[in-house]
Amino acid sequence: MTSIGNTEERFGVVAILLHWSMALLIIGLAALGLYMVTLPDVGFNTKKIMLILYHKEVGLLVLVLLAARLAWRLTHVLPQLAAHLPDWQKIAARFVHLCFYALMFALPMTGWLMSSAAGIPVSFFGLFTLPDFLPHDDYLFQRLIDIHKWFAFALIPFLCVHVGAALMHHFVLKDDTLRRMLP
Ligand code: HEM
Ligand code: HEM
Repeated sequence: MTSIGNTEERFGVVAILLHWSMALLIIGLAALGLYMVTLPDVGFNTKKIMLILYHKEVGLLVLVLLAARLAWRLTHVLPQLAAHLPDWQKIAARFVHLCFYALMFALPMTGWLMSSAAGIPVSFFGLFTLPDFLPHDDYLFQRLIDIHKWFAFALIPFLCVHVGAALMHHFVLKDDTLRRMLP
């Protein structure tokens, strides 16, 4: 039975649930984001508007889950990386994880700021509307679109390295790296 909290050897149920639910949401958001921006603006494209609304609400859910994840992460032990790994691989793995934490914060925040600059406040699943931290400003809106896009483009190669490394550990090196993140 997997324990609720982490141990020195493996991730616990809470960290596993947070990791996989957020992984699904983030990969889905990146795919949805890339798709929705290809839809034409001409006329009143209800499909595009609806998809952007879903993208924004689910994107904010990532920010909420990130707060829970960070709180859990900072108050619980972090399992050690496989002992046989050379130092450069340990540093690379921790570096990628750190970049993920930064991007999981920066992507929703630039999305939120972008919406403020566009003058379109963000609703959180109809429960409440988030405050606008920026005034309506078209120049800022365009720059924030660019920054949001480049953060998303930075996420993709990190994701390839991360998933590639997880699969290599499991199928080639046959160690416990992936199993530690599974129930
Ligand atoms: C199919 C996709 C994914 C696979 C197979 C995967 C696999 C793994 C595995 C095996 C670990 C444990 C590494 C260790 O031993 O420390 C891990 C940790 C981690 N993963 Fe993923 N992952 C995936 C997607 C993602 C995504 C989309 C993100 C966020 C953008 C992410 C962020 C992290 C972080 C931050 C850690 C470090 C543990 C922590 O601090 O919570 N992963 N992942
Ligand atoms: C982890 C969370 C997120 C990820 C991975 C993500 C990813 C993406 C991607 C890949 C694009 C397409 C970029 C392009 O090719 O131009 C995009 C566009 C967009 N995102 Fe996000 N996003 C996230 C969160 C958010 C949030 C929270 C908001 C708003 C509250 C938001 C608002 C937007 C908007 C409005 C666009 C369209 C920009 C345009 O008109 O070109 N995103 N996002």
